Amino acid sequence: MALILGIESSCDETAAAVIDSNGETLAARIVAQRIASQDEMHRPYGGVVPEIAARAHVEVLGPMIGQVLADAGLTLDDMDAIAATAGPGLIGGVMVGLVTGKALAMAADKPLIAINHLEGHALSPRLAEPSLAYPYLLLLVSGGHCQILEVRGLGDYRRLATTIDDALGEAFDKTAKILGLGYPGGPAVERLAREGDAKAVPLPRPLVGSGEPHFSFAGLKSAVMRAKQAGTHRDADIAASFQQAALDCVIDRTRIALGACGPVTALVVAGGVAANAALRGALEELASGAGLPLVAPPPKLCTDNAAMIGWAGAERFAMGYSDALDVAARPRWPL
Ligand code: KG4
Ligand code: ZN
Repeated sequence: MALILGIESSCDETAAAVIDSNGETLAARIVAQRIASQDEMHRPYGGVVPEIAARAHVEVLGPMIGQVLADAGLTLDDMDAIAATAGPGLIGGVMVGLVTGKALAMAADKPLIAINHLEGHALSPRLAEPSLAYPYLLLLVSGGHCQILEVRGLGDYRRLATTIDDALGEAFDKTAKILGLGYPGGPAVERLAREGDAKAVPLPRPLVGSGEPHFSFAGLKSAVMRAKQAGTHRDADIAASFQQAALDCVIDRTRIALGACGPVTALVVAGGVAANAALRGALEELASGAGLPLVAPPPKLCTDNAAMIGWAGAERFAMGYSDALDVAARPRWPL
């Protein structure tokens, strides 16, 4: 059995968790976790302000780690390793978490495991679903990332698709901004879309039908802007039509990727936008048509959290990996 302390601070969530890699249920695997969102601090600016984010991480992280260990009824000495996000992300925030992880590892004489935040998202479904075996096809859709990966094993990822402009979550956030729904926009767009007619506003489906499974959302966002400026549509209809167009793109792209990858055990969706119920429903249909189960971690594991970082640490610890204490924080770090 291994107990891992996970630390996450790469964007606007400060998070810490204790993971027990031998737990047989999700509740047993996540011994304790805490997340502090900075949404309120960034809301006036309509997006994450890196300097504000880094300062808030500094204030919150240290006490939070003490609280999470207390919640778990454990001490730092009980941990087998410390796993901290080392990138990609906003560099100030990444440094806060990584330096904290290094200091704890040094003080308690524990191995440090530097985690790629994207690997955290990619492996989080295995935290939620102990039976999920490699290889699986992963649709990773968040505010900063929009990729389809063939996850063949720990550290063995083949990227089949990426976005040529905006990420899916970014498209939701920009649509929310255009409609005056505030930040973060994804959940607000989804709520408003429920009251609208998805066929009311004709919108483009960029790249649908192309043979490579890449994504593009910039043209869709511009069309949403024009529809709003025209002043002839209800906001709910714009939200519903946008969501439908975006999901049509995602489903088409994922279908192409399913045809291009090797045999897989499941279709998996992760990242913040995986919290979207309409997306889950459409993916469920696609997966069952392909004879695959759809694995979608609970929404709390889809948005940024430290349990997924601790879990990636647990998988790496089991393989005997650890990192030197001078490992660098990386603003960019492709999987
Ligand atoms: O994974 P995440 O918490 O942070 C990143 O690493 O980006 O994802 C946040 C993104 C935001 O763009 C947010 O608007 C989007 O996920 N999101 C949603 C929903 N919940 C969160 N988008 C659409 N529908 C939702 N229900
Ligand atoms: Zn993320």
